[in-house]
Formats: sequence, structure tokens, C-alpha cells
Amino acid sequence: MAILVLGGAGYIGSHMVDRLVNEGQEKVVVVDSLVTGHRAAVHPDAVFYQGDLADQDFMRTVFKEHADIDAVIHFAAYSLVAESMADPLKYFDNNTAGMVKLLEVMHECGVRYIVFSSTAATYGIPEEIPILETTPQKPINPYGESKLMMETIMRWADQAYGIKYVPLRYFNVAGAKPDGSIGEDHGPETHLLPIVLQVAQGKREKIAIFGDDYNTPDGTNVRDYVHPFDLADAHLLAVEYLRNGNPSTAFNLGSSTGFSNLQIVEAARKVTGHPIPLEIADRRPGDPDTLIASSEKARAILGWQPKFDNIETIIQTAWAWHSSHPDGYNDR
Ligand code: UFG
Repeated sequence: MAILVLGGAGYIGSHMVDRLVNEGQEKVVVVDSLVTGHRAAVHPDAVFYQGDLADQDFMRTVFKEHADIDAVIHFAAYSLVAESMADPLKYFDNNTAGMVKLLEVMHECGVRYIVFSSTAATYGIPEEIPILETTPQKPINPYGESKLMMETIMRWADQAYGIKYVPLRYFNVAGAKPDGSIGEDHGPETHLLPIVLQVAQGKREKIAIFGDDYNTPDGTNVRDYVHPFDLADAHLLAVEYLRNGNPSTAFNLGSSTGFSNLQIVEAARKVTGHPIPLEIADRRPGDPDTLIASSEKARAILGWQPKFDNIETIIQTAWAWHSSHPDGYNDR
């Protein structure tokens, strides 16, 4: 058997590919457009194709050349909340319409399983904390909406064509492979932790914290951080779950612990030994107050056991990557 990883040159996808190759159980095929991904992030033992998953002729060729692919792990999407508020159609085109094109080719080529990156952003302003998989999904930004639409499309594709799927709804992903060889490299960077670490590196003067008047203990947003290694474990377990004939279902993936933006800065000060100056800035549109997962379902059904449950350890791994790669992959 073989696994196709879409978006395998991206931040989370590259950790997945690394893990699959190191497992050594099956062939790993990677497709990435390299619009945001990095060729150098892809493990050299994976088979790599540069291309767009919405290009159906291209995808047919990949599935024909590797007829043993029975499962797809799909990371290839745009994922920035603020960008999606400014340019929603980019998200509905690439993320949502791309999913339709992908499922058409999977159906045609008889590929039966898909595990896909969904997001906490599908819940919008959640009706309960911690968030359960049954908590109503009411996104407040086009990014979350595009992912919710992808989940819906998969539900109907399962019913009609029997393509079994698992959406994994990640909370905030942070950290890197502990040896510092692969990590997060977005251009431009918009995520909290990498920007905080850029201040520690001396690449920025200070971090702007977006809003301190939210309904949270210190007024700044609270998020639940999960490490890409733990996500990779969950994806492997989800593929196995589908291959064992289990029904399609969604899982939240988070640590079940919330950290405010100020707490993240404080933890980064401890890890890096740098003062990391901050200023309070205006709220960023589209940010909910608090996002904390219940991941009990993933633990109970998939047997998922996240190992990176300490925020300082997560930050240490990110710091190992940023310190050894001050300019990221340096390929732009
Ligand atoms: N933040 C700042 N200053 C910055 C950058 C971010 O204060 O310079 C704040 C944000 O306002 C937010 C928090 O830090 O309160 C986290 O922001 P990120 O941009 O790091 O992450 P998001 O919570 O916006 O989004 C991430 C992923 C999404 C996913 C979401 C789920 O990018 O794909 O987590 O919680 F949906």
C-alpha cells in the first residue's frame, strides 16, 4: 500500500511525511504546489510531485503511477484567518472547490480513504468550552467556513460513493521536529509563536498582541497548542482506523489546556532567556475569545496520546528550529 500526502512540503505536512518515511511501512507519495510549501522540507525518501491538486489530469497521473495508493492525507489548504477575511474567494476556490476536484478524481481512481486537516475555526465562537466534536459549528471567518464546507462535501461524497473520511479539527499548532531539521516557515509570518521567537532572535523589536479586552482571565485570546509530532500520530491512527473499516467521523486534536497570548510570551521569555518586549494593539478581525479542545474522543476511539503536553517543551522545539534556521528554508 501507499499513502499520498497532499501539502507534504508545508509545516504540518512535512512532519507527517518525515514520520511516515521513518515508520518505513509503506511508500510515501507527496504532492505540493510549493506555493507556500518548501521542497527542502520534504524527506528525500518520499516520492515528490510538484503540482496543484485541483489539476485533475495531473492528479490522475499521480494515482495511475501509484495505483497502490488507498489513502490520502490532505494538508494542502490556505489557513490564515486574517487573509481569509480580506480575500474570502481565494479560500472557497483553493480549499473548498479544490476538495470537489480532488474527490472526483479519488472516486474515478477508486481511492477509498481520506484524512483531512480541519480546524477549530469551524466552531466560530464556541457555545461551550472545552469544545466537543458535537459543539455546533458556526464559523466566523471564511477560512473556517471553507473547511466546514469541505467537511460537508466529504459527508455527501461518503454517502454517494463510499469514500470514507476523517476530518481532524486541529487547534493551534506549534513546535517543530526536536532536532531542528524541519519547522515552520511562512512568508509572511502571521502566527503568534514564530513572531514571538523572531523578537527573541532580534529580527523584530517587539510583538504586538492583538487585543486585551476579550472575555478571558487576562483579556488576551486563549488558545490550545498542539505539536506537529502529536498531529502526525493522530493522522497515522486515523488512516489505520479507516483501513480497519470504521465509519467516517471527526476528531478534535488539542492538548485540552488553554494559554493566553500573554502566557505564551511569558513562556517564550523563559525558554529563550530574551525579554521579548510587547505592546497591546487593536483586536484582529475574526478572532474568537477562547478555543480549547476536548480531545477525549480521539483518545478513546483512536487511542491517541499526545506526548507534547508541556507548552515550554513545545516552545523549545520551535526555538531549536528557528535558532538553527534563522531565515527558514531560505528558498524564496
Ligand atoms: N496574535 C497576536 N499577534 C500576532 C499574531 C497573533 O496577538 O502578531 C494572536 C492572535 O490574535 C490570536 C493568537 O495570537 O489571538 C493566535 O493567533 P495565530 O495567528 O497564531 O493563530 P490563529 O488562532 O489565528 O489560527 C490558528 C491557525 C488556524 C486554526 C486556528 C485554530 O492558523 O488555521 O489556529 O485555533 F484554525
